[in-house]
Amino acid sequence: MTRVQVGIVGAGPAGLLLAYLLRRAGVAAVVLEARSRAYLEQSPHRIRAGVLEWGSKEILRQAGLGERMLAQGLEHRGVYLAFDGALHRLDFPTLTEGRSIWVYGQQFVVQDMIRKHLEEGGEIRFEHEVVGLEADAEGLALVYRSAEGATGRLICDFAVGADGSHSGLRSQIPGVRVHQKHYPYAWLGILAEAPPAAEELIYASHPRGFALFSMRSPTRSRNYLQVGVEERLEDWPEERIWAELNLRLGGVARVEPGPLLEKSLTPLRSLVVEPMQHGRFFLAGDAAHVVPPTGAKGMNLALCDAVLLCRALLAYYRRGEEGPLLRYTQDALRHVWQAELFSYFMTTLLHTPDDPFENGLRLAQLRHLAESPHLQRFLAENYVGLYTSGRYAFWEEGVPA
Ligand code: FAD
Ligand code: PHB
Repeated sequence: MTRVQVGIVGAGPAGLLLAYLLRRAGVAAVVLEARSRAYLEQSPHRIRAGVLEWGSKEILRQAGLGERMLAQGLEHRGVYLAFDGALHRLDFPTLTEGRSIWVYGQQFVVQDMIRKHLEEGGEIRFEHEVVGLEADAEGLALVYRSAEGATGRLICDFAVGADGSHSGLRSQIPGVRVHQKHYPYAWLGILAEAPPAAEELIYASHPRGFALFSMRSPTRSRNYLQVGVEERLEDWPEERIWAELNLRLGGVARVEPGPLLEKSLTPLRSLVVEPMQHGRFFLAGDAAHVVPPTGAKGMNLALCDAVLLCRALLAYYRRGEEGPLLRYTQDALRHVWQAELFSYFMTTLLHTPDDPFENGLRLAQLRHLAESPHLQRFLAENYVGLYTSGRYAFWEEGVPA
């Protein structure tokens, strides 16, 4: 049995950033992670997100976690929409007062955080699966099972569930409400040893369905196809995937096939958990909210929660203030709902529905977007991250020191 100030479940972007920032500020935190370090850092099942908003890039840079990102990540100053056989570029600096985004894989972000946190004396217990949360006279206890099958308890002042979209811990909040929406789409994703379709991302809307052309480096592409939720990976041999990707580009660019390093299916859904806390227990990241990947917001929200929660915990430990902790759900849900709105907007704007009426509305909006600086600005400022602009001045305060 060990006692710490903050016990964190899950070594994803949310749990790792929170643990790292707390340790740097002198608060003792331990991370319990069900998987091994090798799985988190190397498994093709953990490739996931690739886009960092302006504010997320700043969080990592200011926290001292940005060295490799700045050296190897790709700064993108725009994005393409492709439809009706034409390319439309949105220029981020023009539309957002100088901002841009960074293309840098989530698995690299996780590797960087684990390495830095361990090097600086932080503690992550890999292969420790949390199976329960109990409250007793001493505080909260996270009950875990280690790889060897031994069970143990981590006693803490505060516990944080950063255990991802299938969170087992969210049910620990009495009366929790889960607002959820399932879309009739899934994404078939590939990572390939092949040059990207263009130097910036292409979001392509085609009568056959949506396709996204992203990348991890100038020689490695990450592409996605809208497919039905009932489809199986076996039905998509490599040649079919490449042919479909090229069809959906509608002639505006081409992808050259290359060896596949990963192939996955992800059903699209939106989910918001309310409240995100109970007593001394808090949720952060995908455990509290899930967005469809079309807006590239999931990892960014996870980092944003970690900063908010860290700030609230430091206000308590340094000054005995409970207000920021009590307001955590309210503060976090403000940016969560913005990201939910944008992710829903991008998903309905770009995916081809079965219903011809809905499709007509969608195309009308897409064509309006190509003409309207106002709509382009809405898209661009959400894409680079709203909480970095004056109106949502969350970011201006910087990372907790
Ligand atoms: P996770 O990264 O899921 O981490 C949770 C951790 O908790 C895991 O390591 C898990 O093993 C551990 N865990 C779970 N249960 C337990 C337990 N009982 N005990 C101990 N440990 C446990 N987001 C973006 O911002 N941009 C994108 O471009 C983007 N693209 C995406 C593409 C795809 C195909 C997918 C699937 C996701 C994408 N996302 C994107 C979403 C992004 O990956 C997630 O939002 C992000 O991983 C959330 O981080 P997290 O720390 O909350 O959770
Ligand atoms: C990715 O590169 O994996 C990626 C990029 C943009 C998205 C989703 C995923 O909207």
